[in-house]
Amino acid sequence: MKATITLLPGDGVGPEVTAEAVKVLDAVRRRFGHKFRFREALVGGAAIDATGNPLPPETLKAAREADAVLLGAVGGPKWSDPSAKVRPEQGLLRIRKELGLFANLRPVKVFPGLEKASTLKPEVISGVDLVIVRELTGGLYFGEPQGITGKPGAREAVDTLRYTEKEIERLVRVGFELARPRRKKVASVDKANVLASSRLWRDVAHRVRREYPEIEYEDILVDACSMYLVRRPADFDVIITENLFGDILSDEASMLAGSMGMLPSASLAESSKGLYEPVHGSAPDIAGKGIANPLAAVLSSAMLLEISLGLVEEARVVERAVHAFLGEGNRTADLAGPGEKAWSTAETGDDLARRILKG
Ligand code: NAD
Ligand code: IPM
Ligand code: MN
Repeated sequence: MKATITLLPGDGVGPEVTAEAVKVLDAVRRRFGHKFRFREALVGGAAIDATGNPLPPETLKAAREADAVLLGAVGGPKWSDPSAKVRPEQGLLRIRKELGLFANLRPVKVFPGLEKASTLKPEVISGVDLVIVRELTGGLYFGEPQGITGKPGAREAVDTLRYTEKEIERLVRVGFELARPRRKKVASVDKANVLASSRLWRDVAHRVRREYPEIEYEDILVDACSMYLVRRPADFDVIITENLFGDILSDEASMLAGSMGMLPSASLAESSKGLYEPVHGSAPDIAGKGIANPLAAVLSSAMLLEISLGLVEEARVVERAVHAFLGEGNRTADLAGPGEKAWSTAETGDDLARRILKG
């Protein structure tokens, strides 16, 4: 198969982990005889430094023309002055909006052997296999008006939490469809006891739910959900939720898997177009040291193979390589216990590529 993959490495550990995901995709290309064309473009702080714009037009064009996009991470202390007019994160939000990437799938799995890497007890996290379906192009991230007005000392800030029925319904449907071949459970997470947007969310979810009688469904308030995620995480199958709740709950859920460095994601549009990105950020505290865990990026590229390119066997091969790597006790710094050898970012990618080529 022939495919064009646009790479947006971004900032901090973004380029480090993206390079390893590319090694893996390249190994897949060689093993299966595909033709992947990689096209790299600027996003985030790197794009601000080069062009003043966190999402230059050429980048958006390269993303639109590609079969799939693989993103590293954006942001960092260099660009995080709160009074700055342009911010790296605006580039990420804009590309999500421009490509219509409304559904962000964030699977959370505990790889066998990694139970010890989590801060939670092994008996609590064993068997965890859930996916957070986060709404990605609505809510507080995009609502207008947004901004700060007034004179210093008397300033006022506003953010707007707006959802339309249509936006809610298409996200809810993604959740139900995803649950069907899985454990057939959907938990819809909202704050309907306080927020009007959540009451609309719940109403729409209940309407859609009637079309899926075989799916077990529950409503959970977001504050309680954050607690259940550490109390009984293995009970969850598919969690559907709005943009900001999904952002927060997925970082919390990453510790079930042992590290932020383990969580991949797929941001999907109504077409098969997708942008694949680790859940983690640019990790300024470890950037440049060559110790970031590339598995979130590698697993994101497996999602890319499966969802956007339809290469299911290839995706399984990548996941099996990750399984085998971890199964033999190999650990990156974020997962290693005291005194354990920590694999570097590049060593990890090289090892995975070798496994994929060996078959
Ligand atoms: P972060 O996710 O970058 O880091 C949080 C913690 O997780 C840090 O201790 C970091 O070292 C660790 N971590 C993250 N990725 C890791 C990896 N691959 N391997 C090992 N450890 C890893 O979150 P933050 O520090 O709050 O944010 C830093 C910057 O990243 C901010 O500018 C933020 O806006 C941005 N950000 C970008 C994205 C994205 O591009 N998708 C996502 C989240 C945050
Ligand atoms: C994420 C990130 C982004 C978000 C930031 C960088 C804008 O935290 O992808 O989880 O909040 O969506
Ligand atoms: Mn986040």
